[in-house]
Amino acid sequence: MTSKSIRSKGPFRLALVTGASSGIGKALCRLLAKEGIHLVITGRNKMNLYHIADELRSYVNIVVYPADLSNREERKKIIQKIHELSPDLVINNAGFGVYGKATDLGSEPQLDMVEVNVQALMELTTESAKAMLDAKHPGVIMNISSVAGHFPFPGFAAYAASKAFVNSYSIALDEELKEHGIYVLASCPGRVQTNFTFRASRGRRKKQDPNKMDVNFAANQIWSQILKKKAIHTFTGKYRVAEFLIKYILPRRLVLKILKRRILKD
Ligand SMILES: NC(=O)c1ccc[n+]([C@@H]2O[C@H](COP(=O)([O-])OP(=O)(O)OC[C@H]3O[C@@H](n4cnc5c(N)ncnc54)[C@H](OP(=O)(O)O)[C@@H]3O)[C@@H](O)[C@H]2O)c1
Repeated sequence: MTSKSIRSKGPFRLALVTGASSGIGKALCRLLAKEGIHLVITGRNKMNLYHIADELRSYVNIVVYPADLSNREERKKIIQKIHELSPDLVINNAGFGVYGKATDLGSEPQLDMVEVNVQALMELTTESAKAMLDAKHPGVIMNISSVAGHFPFPGFAAYAASKAFVNSYSIALDEELKEHGIYVLASCPGRVQTNFTFRASRGRRKKQDPNKMDVNFAANQIWSQILKKKAIHTFTGKYRVAEFLIKYILPRRLVLKILKRRILKD
């Protein structure tokens, strides 16, 4: 695939999706392919990535670039592709959390998480925006954050802080870049049925909670936010009410206690 060989059918020509190998990223790839948007997909799990590519190849051109985003050298390969292919939609979706008190977890897993959720996202956002500016074409950078990014979260402290960074950074860059037709958005899902909890609990929480939102619903929310170019969006109404109560109504000490009890429940 070269940047010139890709023609546009819809509002976007080519999307780069990180964390495309499972969960929200995979659901987004399916949605974008059906919209006729060509895809560059990345993640660590090569087998999953190639399965998705095989599934979607009948709709669009699709290129697989496996990379570990916690590794700066591997990130360079993705950045090189961004400058080569100049995608007009970049979705920084790769990310993970770890449940537990910071002192129990130790610094290593928290640093790994910051490397992916913060450093990789910041680097890919900056480089994607530079590529869009150089190519003089408009575009959207969608950063997948979390409702947890709206408040301090004991037992999930570094994750919530990493997503608070995503919100703040995205909103600020959106303002810097929108005069060039480049939008940097932050999407804040509540709990979604993916591998997230299984991974965050290091395999302890295996059962899918039926109260979590469906992954295709989450992908649709993100897509509709992209089309509206809405800077920040928390979905759903239930989470928007919770966010309002936590931020403005309920006493902070009570909120912190409830959040801690919920997340550290086993
Ligand atoms: N599910 C939820 O309840 C929820 C709620 C709010 C926000 N989110 C956010 O949504 C995003 C997607 O998560 P998900 O729920 O879809 O979870 P998931 O099913 O676990 O998917 C996470 C994706 O991130 C990729 N990833 C993780 N570490 C990586 C690394 N070092 N290098 C490259 N890729 C890496 C994974 O790739 P590999 O599998 O190939 O390693 C996978 O494709 C995350 O940013 C998460 O924080 C999720």
